[in-house]
Amino acid sequence: MEIRAATLDDITAITEVHKRDVATWYRGFGDDEIVAPYDQLCVFERYMAGGPWMSVETCAIHVNQLLLHELPPIVAVLDGKVVAESEFYIGDEGAPYGVVLDISVLYVHPDAQGRGVGGAMIKYLIDRAQRRQCRSMTVVPGPRGFYQHYGFNEVHDRPHLLVNARTTNHPYTMEELGNETPYRVVSGIPMPIGRYTSGRQEWERHKMITYHLPELSHCMHRRIRLRNDSGEAIAILAQHSPFDRALIAHAWTDSMPINELVTILRNECVNSGFSQLRLLIDPQIVRTPLAIEPVEETSTPCMMRWLKPRLH
Ligand SMILES: CC(C)(COP(=O)(O)OP(=O)(O)OC[C@H]1O[C@@H](n2cnc3c(N)ncnc32)[C@H](O)[C@@H]1OP(=O)(O)O)[C@@H](O)C(=O)NCCC(=O)NCCS
Repeated sequence: MEIRAATLDDITAITEVHKRDVATWYRGFGDDEIVAPYDQLCVFERYMAGGPWMSVETCAIHVNQLLLHELPPIVAVLDGKVVAESEFYIGDEGAPYGVVLDISVLYVHPDAQGRGVGGAMIKYLIDRAQRRQCRSMTVVPGPRGFYQHYGFNEVHDRPHLLVNARTTNHPYTMEELGNETPYRVVSGIPMPIGRYTSGRQEWERHKMITYHLPELSHCMHRRIRLRNDSGEAIAILAQHSPFDRALIAHAWTDSMPINELVTILRNECVNSGFSQLRLLIDPQIVRTPLAIEPVEETSTPCMMRWLKPRLH
């Protein structure tokens, strides 16, 4: 078996690996949704079924962006065939995490599962993380047992709050940042809001919305710098799909108190024309009680594995 960086030549095979994760394909949405064969679906319907990996058109754009940002996905080749793909992000996530390698995708084709492929890929990623002096690795676990087998033993359940947007009279300034603003602007800054497992992933993910799909072009997506008397924050307010009724917030700050940040984000949500905001709170960073009453509260799990840096 060979584990190597993916290239654009692998796109068809990567799409085949991920497509197997979808049991039934549907054409249309909501009340108009009907079961249909894959080849009758448009690119947007495939995208909504499982993300960019679901058709070669969007998968090529997605993988190309990762390659351009020096985040090459890896593939496993078994008997001459690509049978698995994994994607990862390395970023300086600020205190208390430091430099983190986040596994955003690890998927083995069902026909090749149970033959050591996933294990070989995760060992490759642990080695990569140690070489890059990462302090930890993270993953939003699908199969928890698999990650536990490889030492991911801390499970954090993070509060996921839906709050109403609200205007504020508290003064602050807001500057719109371009979509191409580089990751170094937030590198090393703690991310109290909207960090699923990797701030780097959130930053790049939103930069990567480059698919020329009319349905996605209407999605709200703002990158903003916020300042008030207490400090500064950088935030992304975005819709992940055109069907989202609430905006999702991602915010980095090492100076703005959390309740001031939330107040400003709620105001910016109103300014963006939305009435609700989703806030995923990181309890490792947010120690102050939040002065908000959520409309809905769920939780999102994250698994971690601390690493000992390898000395060369
Ligand atoms: C989980 C997954 C990556 C494992 O890959 P795999 O190639 O089948 O696993 P391997 O054959 O390499 O197994 C390696 C080891 O992990 C163990 N393992 C595999 N899956 C496991 C599970 N679900 N729970 C506990 N242990 C597991 C195996 O028993 C094996 O143990 P060993 O070292 O003692 O032999 C693969 O099954 C998969 O892709 N599943 C779907 C993934 C998914 O849902 N991803 C979504 C998140 S992106």
